[in-house]
Amino acid sequence: MSFPNVRLRRLRKNKKIRELLEEVRLSTKDLICPIFVQEDLKSRMQVESMPDIERLPLKDVVDEVNSIADLKIPAIMLFGIPAKKDDIGTAAFSENGIVQRAISEIRKSLDSEIAIMADVCLCQYTTAAHCGLVKGDKIDNDSTLDVLKKIAVSQAQAGVDVVSPSAMMDGQVKAIRQGLDDSGFTDVAIMSHSAKHRSSLYSPFRDMAHCAPKFSDRKTYQLPYTNPTEAMREVETDILEGVDIVMIKPALAYLDLIAKTRSSFNIPISAYSVSGEYSLIKAAAKQGWIDEREVTMEVLTAIKRAGADMIVTYLSKIAAKTLNG
Ligand code: PBG
Ligand code: ZN
Repeated sequence: MSFPNVRLRRLRKNKKIRELLEEVRLSTKDLICPIFVQEDLKSRMQVESMPDIERLPLKDVVDEVNSIADLKIPAIMLFGIPAKKDDIGTAAFSENGIVQRAISEIRKSLDSEIAIMADVCLCQYTTAAHCGLVKGDKIDNDSTLDVLKKIAVSQAQAGVDVVSPSAMMDGQVKAIRQGLDDSGFTDVAIMSHSAKHRSSLYSPFRDMAHCAPKFSDRKTYQLPYTNPTEAMREVETDILEGVDIVMIKPALAYLDLIAKTRSSFNIPISAYSVSGEYSLIKAAAKQGWIDEREVTMEVLTAIKRAGADMIVTYLSKIAAKTLNG
């Protein structure tokens, strides 16, 4: 018996050979950059738990999006923080809502092209800060669907390209699709937070977006991280309801679910690398314990390798700067 002299190191010999052999390439074109717009804010505001991420006043939004577009990042994901909250989240679907105004400003005044995506949820906008309407001590699914539909349609009227429901209500994709189609917005796409898990990695976001629930937690609607089969059922259900892009969230601790979605379904996949994933990296980098840019590239490439087509990430600018050289 003869052995071929297999030597894998031949293909790692020098930089150019290594480049040729590269199987997975992260691109700036894979990135979606989140943006937070706060109503009644005078100037940009830092958030302690998310270094280098700021809440923006409306007047600074176009500048910020221009700088993101300059980095060749193709899309933004808008989150709003309203001045007033109420029981039904009126500010989320009002024509003059902060997100609606931001969308039209960007549409009107941006120098270059960018895809505008917006979050569709209630938690920043209601006094209870839950993702659905509260009835008694419960989060009511079906009455929430009507509000989610109204939010999506109001964002479509302002000029959004993609709406992104994150409430984890049953039937949210179907309701929103129906609402958009009935209003003539058949070309507005839905990227649903399909498999959104109840995660402790959301804490910095809640600090940022003022949306920590006032009572109880989100366990009656967000997925438990112990249930991969149930996560696939959520993905499947969204596909049956007509979703355009499914999302797995968080990303780094859920790579198996990204890979599983990739092998089980023919649908574009986004992954949401959440606030806690960002803050872990920033905190360690600040100490000098890890290299921020290198870890960013490694983590985002791994998410792509698992099967994600696109990544919503607070690391977008760091990655784009690195990739653009
Ligand atoms: C709320 C929402 C959350 C995130 C996005 N939308 C928080 C939550 O569900 O508690 C988390 C994003 C992040 O941590 O970056 N609908
Ligand atoms: Zn929510």
